[in-house]
Amino acid sequence: MGDVKRVLLIVSGGIAAYKCLELIRLLRGREISVRCVLTEGGAQFVTPLSLAALSGDKVYQDLFSLTDENEMGHIELSRDADLLLVAPATANLLAKMRAGLADDLASTALLATDKPVLAAPAMNVRMWEHPATRENIRDLKSRGIGFIGPVEGEMACGEFGLGRMAEPEAIAQAVAKTLESAGAPGGRLAGKRAVVTSGPTHEAIDPVRYLANHSSGRQGHAIARALAAEGADTVLISGPTQLPDPAGVLVRHVASALQMLEACEAELPADIVVCAAAVADWRVQDQPRQKLKKNGKAAVIQLIENPDILATLSKPSTSRPRLVVGFAAETQNIIDHAIGKRDAKGCDWIIANDVSPESGTFGGDTNTVHLIDEAGVEDWPTLTKDEVGRRLAERIALHLGGQGR
Ligand code: PMT
Repeated sequence: MGDVKRVLLIVSGGIAAYKCLELIRLLRGREISVRCVLTEGGAQFVTPLSLAALSGDKVYQDLFSLTDENEMGHIELSRDADLLLVAPATANLLAKMRAGLADDLASTALLATDKPVLAAPAMNVRMWEHPATRENIRDLKSRGIGFIGPVEGEMACGEFGLGRMAEPEAIAQAVAKTLESAGAPGGRLAGKRAVVTSGPTHEAIDPVRYLANHSSGRQGHAIARALAAEGADTVLISGPTQLPDPAGVLVRHVASALQMLEACEAELPADIVVCAAAVADWRVQDQPRQKLKKNGKAAVIQLIENPDILATLSKPSTSRPRLVVGFAAETQNIIDHAIGKRDAKGCDWIIANDVSPESGTFGGDTNTVHLIDEAGVEDWPTLTKDEVGRRLAERIALHLGGQGR
């Protein structure tokens, strides 16, 4: 029974909730165990008794229930599962997910989880097409939430269009596929360990000020998500960003370059390292313990070089990861400088990108990169950062001999 995968099924309040009964049957038929969370709205459409009878497990409904919390706290509920499935996902619950609200058991479990999340939306066509819903979906997708449907058809309200929940069989198939790729046998990087750095570092000037840069972490986080989706056991070492932790990835939060190096070394051995962080090249030599005071003169701050994390991890040794990938952030002579950096730092591949202000790479949605390895330079078209992540993860899987699904 050790290999049985566990799904936490969140049933929210839409007429399509009745399809969940069939969905539970199909999932269990694939040897996937199902535990249900039923929202107040969901309970208007299906009874806890039906869900319990089909899932063979207790149904959780109340965030503030003493008995539920004693048996299984809401954090444990979301962590114990291998995947969270929201079906039906109402417009209201999707909006709460995007906003990070946690005002009932379902939204709290969704906010607390570190596992992949799939959602099967179901709503009236106008609600689905509303700009608010479109933005919610776009944002949730960019955070790695997977969507199944909705599909077109006649709705319970009598209207026709996109908004019907996908059929239970399609949802069950998508769940099985996601479980397979998230670290299960079948993912091309299953059994491989990956460490990814992302975001900026903050180097303290004094107790209240720091040196930083414009990295948002979007590119590094997308790479970590993509490696995890290919089945790699992935650790993301993240500098300070505004981004949520990607689902299915273990995240270590750090501030400075020295902390980032220490966190990376603590995660070795690894098969793959991708250094996408914009690590500060310098830190303040002697940090004062108290806030610096103005005295009418120019302030002089002595900077010393930070250790180079990429070069450190690339050094030949018995514990060197099989594949070390660096990034080169350039504003001119991009390819030549990147080739020089690959040689100087000793990494296997380097991904060159233009970070001049006109490129919009820092913080933007897209990136135009060039993959440089010993064979030469490969120019990629302009892609979203998610697509760069997926393409890179695919290249890594092929390079390390993944067999594909
Ligand atoms: O975060 P986003 O807003 O999505 O933007 C993405 C990005 C532009 C930050 C990213 O795509 C990128 O280019 N990351 C590398 C940024 C960088 O620091 O480049 P660099 O050319 O200065 O450094 C070369 C390599 O050495 C990088 O892999 C870097 O992580 C690494 N390095 C640098 C200095 C240092 N002390 N330690 C390092 O490991």
